[in-house]
Amino acid sequence: MQIVFGIDFGTTNSALSVYRNGTVEVVAVDGGDQGGELMRSVLYFNEEHEIFAGHEAIHQYVNDGAAGRFMQSIKTFLPNTSFDSTEIFGTRYTIDDLVAIILRKIKARGEAYVGRPVESVVLGRPVVFSQDAARDAVAEQRLEKAARKAGFRNIWFQYEPVAAALAFEESLQPGEERIVFIGDFGGGTSDFSVIRVKGGAFGRSDRRSDVLSLGGVYVAGDKFDSQIMWDKVAHYFGRYARYRTMGKEEWNSIPKSIIYTLCQWHRIPLLRARKTRELIRVIKGAADDRRAIGHLENIINDNYGFFLFQAIEKAKCELSDSDRSLIHFQDRDLIINEEICTEEFEALNADNFRQIAACIDEVVAKSGLLPAQMDTVFLTGGTSRIPRIQTLFADRFGRDRLEQRNAFTSVVHGLGSSVPLFV
Ligand SMILES: Nc1ncnc2c1ncn2[C@@H]1O[C@H](COP(=O)(O)OP(=O)(O)OP(=O)(O)O)[C@@H](O)[C@H]1O
Ligand SMILES: [Mg+2]
Repeated sequence: MQIVFGIDFGTTNSALSVYRNGTVEVVAVDGGDQGGELMRSVLYFNEEHEIFAGHEAIHQYVNDGAAGRFMQSIKTFLPNTSFDSTEIFGTRYTIDDLVAIILRKIKARGEAYVGRPVESVVLGRPVVFSQDAARDAVAEQRLEKAARKAGFRNIWFQYEPVAAALAFEESLQPGEERIVFIGDFGGGTSDFSVIRVKGGAFGRSDRRSDVLSLGGVYVAGDKFDSQIMWDKVAHYFGRYARYRTMGKEEWNSIPKSIIYTLCQWHRIPLLRARKTRELIRVIKGAADDRRAIGHLENIINDNYGFFLFQAIEKAKCELSDSDRSLIHFQDRDLIINEEICTEEFEALNADNFRQIAACIDEVVAKSGLLPAQMDTVFLTGGTSRIPRIQTLFADRFGRDRLEQRNAFTSVVHGLGSSVPLFV
Protein backbone atom coordinates (compact mmCIF):
# COMPACT_ATOMS: atom_id res chain seq x y z
CA MET A 1 0.00 0.00 0.00
CA GLN A 2 1.40 3.30 -1.01
CA ILE A 3 1.29 6.21 1.41
CA VAL A 4 2.13 9.73 0.28
CA PHE A 5 2.18 12.87 2.36
CA GLY A 6 0.89 16.26 1.29
CA ILE A 7 2.71 19.11 2.99
CA ASP A 8 1.63 22.72 2.82
CA PHE A 9 4.68 24.59 4.03
CA GLY A 10 3.12 27.99 4.56
CA THR A 11 4.55 31.36 5.40
CA THR A 12 2.60 31.41 8.64
CA ASN A 13 1.20 27.90 9.07
CA SER A 14 2.11 24.45 7.83
CA ALA A 15 -0.12 21.42 7.57
CA LEU A 16 -0.03 17.74 6.67
CA SER A 17 -2.30 15.38 4.78
CA VAL A 18 -1.98 11.65 4.25
CA TYR A 19 -2.98 9.90 1.05
CA ARG A 20 -3.55 6.16 1.31
CA ASN A 21 -6.00 3.66 -0.16
CA GLY A 22 -7.33 6.36 -2.46
CA THR A 23 -8.44 8.61 0.38
CA VAL A 24 -7.05 11.77 1.88
CA GLU A 25 -7.12 12.90 5.47
CA VAL A 26 -5.70 15.96 7.17
CA VAL A 27 -3.56 14.99 10.14
CA ALA A 28 -2.81 17.19 13.14
CA VAL A 29 0.85 18.18 13.23
CA ASP A 30 1.26 20.29 16.30
CA GLY A 31 -0.12 20.46 19.80
CA GLY A 32 -0.63 24.21 19.59
CA ASP A 33 -3.62 26.32 18.62
CA GLN A 34 -6.45 25.32 16.28
CA GLY A 35 -6.52 21.87 17.89
CA GLY A 36 -2.98 21.23 16.68
CA GLU A 37 -4.14 20.79 13.11
CA LEU A 38 -1.63 23.39 11.93
CA MET A 39 1.95 24.03 12.87
CA ARG A 40 3.17 27.59 13.01
CA SER A 41 6.07 27.73 10.52
CA VAL A 42 8.48 29.03 13.13
CA LEU A 43 11.78 27.92 14.64
CA TYR A 44 13.54 28.72 17.85
CA PHE A 45 17.20 28.09 18.65
CA ASN A 46 18.40 28.42 22.20
CA GLU A 47 21.97 29.01 23.32
CA GLU A 48 22.31 25.32 24.22
CA HIS A 49 21.90 24.49 20.52
CA GLU A 50 18.46 22.99 20.98
CA ILE A 51 16.03 23.59 18.14
CA PHE A 52 12.26 23.85 18.52
CA ALA A 53 9.54 24.16 15.91
CA GLY A 54 5.88 25.18 15.95
CA HIS A 55 4.15 25.92 19.22
CA GLU A 56 7.13 24.52 21.16
CA ALA A 57 9.27 27.17 19.55
CA ILE A 58 6.90 29.92 20.66
CA HIS A 59 6.63 28.43 24.12
CA GLN A 60 10.41 28.19 24.59
CA TYR A 61 11.01 31.61 23.14
CA VAL A 62 8.52 33.16 25.54
CA ASN A 63 9.86 31.19 28.53
CA ASP A 64 13.46 32.14 27.77
CA GLY A 65 12.52 35.78 27.68
CA ALA A 66 13.41 35.86 24.01
CA ALA A 67 17.06 35.07 24.71
CA GLY A 68 17.59 32.75 21.74
CA ARG A 69 16.95 33.23 18.08
CA PHE A 70 13.39 33.05 16.80
CA MET A 71 12.57 32.79 13.10
CA GLN A 72 9.32 33.06 11.23
CA SER A 73 8.12 33.67 7.66
CA ILE A 74 11.07 31.53 6.55
CA LYS A 75 9.25 30.76 3.31
CA THR A 76 9.66 34.38 2.23
CA PHE A 77 13.44 33.91 2.25
CA LEU A 78 13.30 31.07 -0.29
CA PRO A 79 13.45 33.31 -3.39
CA ASN A 80 15.90 35.72 -1.78
CA THR A 81 19.18 34.94 -3.53
CA SER A 82 21.12 37.43 -1.42
CA PHE A 83 20.19 35.42 1.66
CA ASP A 84 21.77 32.00 1.58
CA SER A 85 22.53 31.16 5.17
CA THR A 86 22.57 32.53 8.67
CA GLU A 87 24.76 31.88 11.68
CA ILE A 88 23.01 30.94 14.88
CA PHE A 89 25.11 30.60 18.01
CA GLY A 90 28.16 29.61 15.99
CA THR A 91 26.47 27.15 13.63
CA ARG A 92 25.75 28.03 10.03
CA TYR A 93 22.36 27.09 8.61
CA THR A 94 21.47 27.40 4.96
CA ILE A 95 17.91 28.33 4.12
CA ASP A 96 17.15 24.75 3.11
CA ASP A 97 18.55 23.51 6.44
CA LEU A 98 16.01 25.70 8.20
CA VAL A 99 13.10 24.54 6.06
CA ALA A 100 14.26 20.93 6.45
CA ILE A 101 13.93 21.18 10.24
CA ILE A 102 10.24 22.01 9.87
CA LEU A 103 9.63 19.39 7.17
CA ARG A 104 11.45 16.71 9.19
CA LYS A 105 9.23 17.42 12.15
CA ILE A 106 6.06 17.21 10.08
CA LYS A 107 7.32 14.02 8.44
CA ALA A 108 7.97 12.45 11.85
CA ARG A 109 4.45 13.34 13.03
CA GLY A 110 2.95 11.82 9.90
CA GLU A 111 5.05 8.67 10.23
CA ALA A 112 4.03 8.25 13.85
CA TYR A 113 0.43 8.58 12.69
CA VAL A 114 0.63 5.98 9.90
CA GLY A 115 3.08 3.77 11.80
CA ARG A 116 5.76 3.47 9.15
CA PRO A 117 8.34 5.47 7.18
CA VAL A 118 7.07 7.55 4.27
CA GLU A 119 9.41 8.81 1.55
CA SER A 120 7.02 10.44 -0.90
CA VAL A 121 5.53 13.89 -0.68
CA VAL A 122 3.54 16.39 -2.68
CA LEU A 123 4.64 19.85 -1.65
CA GLY A 124 2.59 22.95 -2.24
CA ARG A 125 4.16 25.97 -3.85
CA PRO A 126 2.79 29.44 -4.52
CA VAL A 127 2.16 30.34 -8.14
CA VAL A 128 4.84 32.97 -7.79
CA PHE A 129 7.61 32.68 -5.26
CA SER A 130 9.04 35.71 -7.02
CA GLN A 131 8.19 37.80 -10.08
CA ASP A 132 11.74 37.08 -11.22
CA ALA A 133 11.92 33.71 -13.00
CA ALA A 134 15.47 32.91 -11.86
CA ARG A 135 14.64 33.59 -8.22
CA ASP A 136 11.45 31.66 -8.55
CA ALA A 137 13.42 28.64 -9.73
CA VAL A 138 15.90 29.04 -6.87
CA ALA A 139 13.02 29.03 -4.38
CA GLU A 140 11.62 25.76 -5.69
CA GLN A 141 15.07 24.15 -5.79
CA ARG A 142 15.68 25.16 -2.20
CA LEU A 143 12.35 23.73 -1.13
CA GLU A 144 13.15 20.50 -2.92
CA LYS A 145 16.58 20.34 -1.32
CA ALA A 146 14.97 20.86 2.08
CA ALA A 147 12.57 18.00 1.43
CA ARG A 148 15.51 15.74 0.52
CA LYS A 149 17.37 16.73 3.66
CA ALA A 150 14.22 15.92 5.62
CA GLY A 151 14.39 12.39 4.19
CA PHE A 152 11.94 12.45 1.29
CA ARG A 153 13.01 10.71 -1.91
CA ASN A 154 10.03 11.22 -4.20
CA ILE A 155 9.06 14.86 -4.30
CA TRP A 156 6.40 16.52 -6.42
CA PHE A 157 5.13 20.09 -6.48
CA GLN A 158 1.60 21.32 -6.86
CA TYR A 159 0.43 24.92 -7.11
CA GLU A 160 -1.35 25.91 -3.92
CA PRO A 161 -4.49 27.32 -5.59
CA VAL A 162 -4.77 24.22 -7.79
CA ALA A 163 -4.64 22.12 -4.64
CA ALA A 164 -7.41 24.27 -3.13
CA ALA A 165 -9.47 23.68 -6.28
CA LEU A 166 -9.09 19.92 -5.96
CA ALA A 167 -10.29 20.13 -2.37
CA PHE A 168 -13.30 22.16 -3.50
CA GLU A 169 -14.00 19.64 -6.24
CA GLU A 170 -14.57 16.89 -3.72
CA SER A 171 -17.60 18.74 -2.41
CA LEU A 172 -19.33 18.56 -5.82
CA GLN A 173 -21.83 15.94 -6.94
CA PRO A 174 -20.49 13.38 -9.45
CA GLY A 175 -20.58 14.89 -12.91
CA GLU A 176 -21.27 18.41 -11.66
CA GLU A 177 -18.95 20.70 -13.59
CA ARG A 178 -18.00 24.23 -12.69
CA ILE A 179 -15.54 26.94 -13.58
CA VAL A 180 -14.08 28.14 -10.32
CA PHE A 181 -12.01 31.16 -9.51
CA ILE A 182 -9.76 30.17 -6.61
CA GLY A 183 -8.29 32.80 -4.30
CA ASP A 184 -5.83 31.58 -1.68
CA PHE A 185 -4.87 34.41 0.65
CA GLY A 186 -2.12 33.39 3.03
CA GLY A 187 0.58 35.13 5.02
CA GLY A 188 3.12 35.67 2.24
CA THR A 189 1.33 35.34 -1.08
CA SER A 190 -2.10 35.68 -2.62
CA ASP A 191 -2.48 33.02 -5.27
CA PHE A 192 -5.13 32.68 -7.90
CA SER A 193 -6.32 30.18 -10.42
CA VAL A 194 -9.21 29.73 -12.78
CA ILE A 195 -9.84 26.03 -13.05
CA ARG A 196 -12.46 23.65 -14.37
CA VAL A 197 -13.56 21.25 -11.68
CA LYS A 198 -15.80 18.24 -11.95
CA GLY A 199 -17.40 16.20 -9.20
CA GLY A 200 -16.14 12.62 -9.17
CA ALA A 201 -12.99 13.53 -11.08
CA PHE A 202 -10.74 12.57 -8.19
CA GLY A 203 -7.74 10.70 -9.45
CA ARG A 204 -8.30 11.57 -13.11
CA SER A 205 -4.79 11.66 -14.43
CA ASP A 206 -3.88 14.85 -16.25
CA ARG A 207 -5.53 18.06 -15.13
CA ARG A 208 -3.28 20.53 -16.89
CA SER A 209 -5.87 21.37 -19.51
CA ASP A 210 -8.37 22.20 -16.77
CA VAL A 211 -6.19 24.97 -15.38
CA LEU A 212 -7.25 27.97 -17.44
CA SER A 213 -4.98 30.48 -15.75
CA LEU A 214 -2.69 31.01 -12.80
CA GLY A 215 -1.27 34.05 -11.10
CA GLY A 216 -0.28 35.56 -7.82
CA VAL A 217 1.13 38.50 -5.94
CA TYR A 218 3.48 38.86 -3.06
CA VAL A 219 0.89 40.77 -1.09
CA ALA A 220 -0.89 38.94 1.74
CA GLY A 221 -1.26 38.85 5.52
CA ASP A 222 2.32 39.80 6.39
CA LYS A 223 2.11 42.88 4.16
CA PHE A 224 -0.99 44.08 5.97
CA ASP A 225 0.78 43.67 9.29
CA SER A 226 3.81 45.57 7.97
CA GLN A 227 1.62 48.36 6.72
CA ILE A 228 -0.03 48.75 10.12
CA MET A 229 3.43 48.83 11.68
CA TRP A 230 4.57 51.50 9.22
CA ASP A 231 1.57 53.81 9.65
CA LYS A 232 0.43 53.23 13.22
CA VAL A 233 3.37 51.94 15.23
CA ALA A 234 6.71 52.85 13.64
CA HIS A 235 6.63 56.37 15.10
CA TYR A 236 7.19 54.80 18.53
CA PHE A 237 10.53 53.64 17.15
CA GLY A 238 11.71 56.88 15.63
CA ARG A 239 10.10 56.94 12.22
CA TYR A 240 9.77 60.73 12.48
CA ALA A 241 12.83 61.34 14.65
CA ARG A 242 15.51 63.65 13.29
CA TYR A 243 19.12 64.12 14.23
CA ARG A 244 21.97 66.53 13.59
CA THR A 245 25.49 65.46 12.81
CA MET A 246 28.35 67.22 14.52
CA GLY A 247 29.06 70.76 13.39
CA LYS A 248 26.16 70.82 10.92
CA GLU A 249 23.00 72.84 11.22
CA GLU A 250 20.52 70.82 9.18
CA TRP A 251 18.42 68.00 10.57
CA ASN A 252 18.50 64.52 9.01
CA SER A 253 15.77 61.95 9.10
CA ILE A 254 16.55 58.50 10.33
CA PRO A 255 17.33 56.23 7.31
CA LYS A 256 14.12 54.87 5.79
CA SER A 257 15.83 51.52 5.28
CA ILE A 258 16.02 51.01 9.06
CA ILE A 259 12.33 51.72 9.58
CA TYR A 260 11.48 49.64 6.55
CA THR A 261 13.36 46.66 7.97
CA LEU A 262 11.60 47.18 11.27
CA CYS A 263 8.28 46.77 9.48
CA GLN A 264 9.16 43.25 8.33
CA TRP A 265 9.60 41.81 11.72
CA HIS A 266 11.34 38.61 10.61
CA ARG A 267 14.11 40.82 9.25
CA ILE A 268 14.67 42.83 12.44
CA PRO A 269 17.65 40.63 13.43
CA LEU A 270 19.41 41.99 10.32
CA LEU A 271 19.59 45.36 12.11
CA ARG A 272 22.03 43.75 14.51
CA ALA A 273 24.80 44.29 11.98
CA ARG A 274 27.57 46.21 13.72
CA LYS A 275 27.50 49.16 11.32
CA THR A 276 23.77 49.65 11.74
CA ARG A 277 23.99 49.44 15.52
CA GLU A 278 26.74 52.03 15.58
CA LEU A 279 24.77 54.32 13.34
CA ILE A 280 21.76 54.04 15.61
CA ARG A 281 23.94 54.81 18.62
CA VAL A 282 25.24 57.95 16.94
CA ILE A 283 21.72 59.00 15.93
CA LYS A 284 20.49 58.50 19.47
CA GLY A 285 23.14 60.86 20.81
CA ALA A 286 22.00 63.63 18.46
CA ALA A 287 18.27 62.99 18.03
CA ASP A 288 15.33 65.19 18.89
CA ASP A 289 13.44 62.14 20.13
CA ARG A 290 15.95 60.04 22.05
CA ARG A 291 13.25 58.06 23.74
CA ALA A 292 12.02 56.71 20.40
CA ILE A 293 15.55 55.80 19.31
CA GLY A 294 15.96 54.06 22.68
CA HIS A 295 12.91 51.95 21.85
CA LEU A 296 14.47 51.19 18.48
CA GLU A 297 17.62 49.95 20.21
CA ASN A 298 15.56 47.86 22.59
CA ILE A 299 13.53 46.13 19.92
CA ILE A 300 16.75 45.21 18.12
CA ASN A 301 18.68 44.11 21.20
CA ASP A 302 15.85 42.33 22.98
CA ASN A 303 14.37 40.95 19.78
CA TYR A 304 10.78 41.46 20.87
CA GLY A 305 9.50 42.16 17.37
CA PHE A 306 7.64 38.88 17.48
CA PHE A 307 5.43 40.01 20.36
CA LEU A 308 4.85 43.41 18.85
CA PHE A 309 3.75 41.85 15.58
CA GLN A 310 1.53 39.39 17.45
CA ALA A 311 -0.28 42.42 18.86
CA ILE A 312 -0.56 43.98 15.41
CA GLU A 313 -1.77 40.74 13.84
CA LYS A 314 -4.33 40.29 16.60
CA ALA A 315 -5.74 43.76 15.98
CA LYS A 316 -5.85 43.03 12.24
CA CYS A 317 -7.72 39.76 12.76
CA GLU A 318 -10.20 41.44 15.10
CA LEU A 319 -11.00 43.90 12.32
CA SER A 320 -12.36 40.99 10.31
CA ASP A 321 -15.22 40.67 12.80
CA SER A 322 -15.55 44.15 14.19
CA ASP A 323 -15.21 47.69 12.89
CA ARG A 324 -12.53 48.78 15.32
CA SER A 325 -9.76 47.25 17.42
CA LEU A 326 -6.84 48.18 19.61
CA ILE A 327 -3.16 47.58 19.01
CA HIS A 328 -1.87 47.13 22.52
CA PHE A 329 1.72 46.45 23.44
CA GLN A 330 3.98 47.15 26.38
CA ASP A 331 7.71 46.74 26.98
CA ARG A 332 9.63 48.57 29.72
CA ASP A 333 8.70 52.26 29.38
CA LEU A 334 7.10 51.77 25.99
CA ILE A 335 3.32 51.64 26.02
CA ILE A 336 1.47 51.38 22.74
CA ASN A 337 -2.29 51.84 22.59
CA GLU A 338 -3.36 52.59 19.05
CA GLU A 339 -6.94 52.31 17.95
CA ILE A 340 -7.56 51.28 14.40
CA CYS A 341 -10.86 51.13 12.56
CA THR A 342 -11.79 49.24 9.42
CA GLU A 343 -11.91 52.39 7.32
CA GLU A 344 -8.40 53.34 8.33
CA PHE A 345 -7.09 49.82 7.82
CA GLU A 346 -8.53 49.81 4.31
CA ALA A 347 -7.22 53.28 3.55
CA LEU A 348 -3.67 52.61 4.61
CA ASN A 349 -3.65 49.32 2.72
CA ALA A 350 -5.29 50.82 -0.36
CA ASP A 351 -2.26 50.14 -2.49
CA ASN A 352 -2.01 46.53 -1.29
CA PHE A 353 -5.68 45.94 -2.13
CA ARG A 354 -5.13 47.59 -5.51
CA GLN A 355 -2.29 45.21 -6.32
CA ILE A 356 -4.43 42.25 -5.35
CA ALA A 357 -7.35 43.55 -7.42
CA ALA A 358 -5.11 44.06 -10.45
CA CYS A 359 -3.85 40.50 -10.18
CA ILE A 360 -7.39 39.12 -9.91
CA ASP A 361 -8.36 40.97 -13.09
CA GLU A 362 -5.26 39.74 -14.85
CA VAL A 363 -5.93 36.11 -13.93
CA VAL A 364 -9.54 36.41 -15.12
CA ALA A 365 -8.36 37.99 -18.39
CA LYS A 366 -5.74 35.29 -18.95
CA SER A 367 -8.38 32.58 -18.57
CA GLY A 368 -10.08 33.86 -21.71
CA LEU A 369 -13.40 33.95 -19.86
CA LEU A 370 -15.54 36.80 -18.63
CA PRO A 371 -16.19 37.35 -14.92
CA ALA A 372 -19.79 36.29 -15.58
CA GLN A 373 -18.52 32.90 -16.71
CA MET A 374 -17.06 32.02 -13.33
CA ASP A 375 -19.62 29.77 -11.67
CA THR A 376 -18.08 29.98 -8.23
CA VAL A 377 -15.44 31.96 -6.41
CA PHE A 378 -13.76 29.84 -3.79
CA LEU A 379 -11.80 31.75 -1.19
CA THR A 380 -9.41 30.14 1.22
CA GLY A 381 -6.41 31.03 3.44
CA GLY A 382 -6.43 33.07 6.66
CA THR A 383 -6.31 36.43 4.92
CA SER A 384 -9.48 35.66 2.94
CA ARG A 385 -11.33 36.52 6.16
CA ILE A 386 -10.66 40.21 5.64
CA PRO A 387 -13.98 41.80 4.58
CA ARG A 388 -12.31 44.06 2.00
CA ILE A 389 -10.90 40.99 0.24
CA GLN A 390 -14.38 39.50 0.05
CA THR A 391 -15.71 42.79 -1.32
CA LEU A 392 -13.13 42.72 -4.11
CA PHE A 393 -14.78 39.51 -5.29
CA ALA A 394 -18.36 40.53 -4.53
CA ASP A 395 -17.85 43.63 -6.71
CA ARG A 396 -16.61 41.57 -9.63
CA PHE A 397 -18.58 38.37 -9.40
CA GLY A 398 -21.53 39.02 -7.10
CA ARG A 399 -21.70 38.01 -3.48
CA ASP A 400 -23.89 34.98 -4.11
CA ARG A 401 -21.13 33.28 -6.05
CA LEU A 402 -18.65 33.45 -3.17
CA GLU A 403 -17.87 30.33 -1.19
CA GLN A 404 -15.57 30.20 1.74
CA ARG A 405 -14.56 27.34 3.91
CA ASN A 406 -11.67 25.53 5.56
CA ALA A 407 -9.51 28.60 5.42
CA PHE A 408 -6.51 26.74 6.78
CA THR A 409 -6.77 23.20 5.41
CA SER A 410 -8.15 23.20 1.89
CA VAL A 411 -4.69 23.58 0.33
CA VAL A 412 -3.17 20.70 2.29
CA HIS A 413 -6.19 18.53 1.63
CA GLY A 414 -5.84 19.25 -2.08
CA LEU A 415 -2.15 18.36 -1.99
CA GLY A 416 -3.21 14.92 -0.79
CA SER A 417 -5.81 14.81 -3.56
CA SER A 418 -3.06 15.61 -6.07
CA VAL A 419 -1.21 12.39 -5.36
CA PRO A 420 -2.89 10.31 -8.12
CA LEU A 421 -1.78 12.96 -10.65
CA PHE A 422 1.83 12.10 -9.93
CA VAL A 423 2.24 8.49 -8.84
N1 LIG B 1 -9.49 36.37 11.01
C1 LIG B 1 -8.49 36.80 10.25
N2 LIG B 1 -8.54 38.01 9.64
C2 LIG B 1 -7.53 38.46 8.88
N3 LIG B 1 -6.40 37.78 8.68
C3 LIG B 1 -6.27 36.57 9.27
C4 LIG B 1 -7.30 36.01 10.07
N4 LIG B 1 -6.88 34.80 10.52
C5 LIG B 1 -5.64 34.61 10.03
N5 LIG B 1 -5.27 35.67 9.28
C6 LIG B 1 -3.99 35.86 8.57
O1 LIG B 1 -3.83 34.79 7.67
C7 LIG B 1 -2.44 34.55 7.45
C8 LIG B 1 -2.16 33.08 7.61
O2 LIG B 1 -2.98 32.38 6.71
P1 LIG B 1 -2.54 30.96 6.12
O3 LIG B 1 -2.29 30.00 7.23
O4 LIG B 1 -3.57 30.60 5.11
O5 LIG B 1 -1.17 31.37 5.43
P2 LIG B 1 0.03 30.44 4.95
O6 LIG B 1 -0.52 29.27 4.21
O7 LIG B 1 0.93 30.15 6.09
O8 LIG B 1 0.80 31.44 3.97
P3 LIG B 1 1.17 31.30 2.39
O9 LIG B 1 0.08 30.48 1.77
O10 LIG B 1 1.21 32.71 1.89
O11 LIG B 1 2.49 30.65 2.39
C9 LIG B 1 -1.68 35.40 8.48
O12 LIG B 1 -1.18 36.55 7.83
C10 LIG B 1 -2.78 35.77 9.47
O13 LIG B 1 -2.53 37.02 10.09
MG1 LIG C 1 -1.08 28.90 2.29
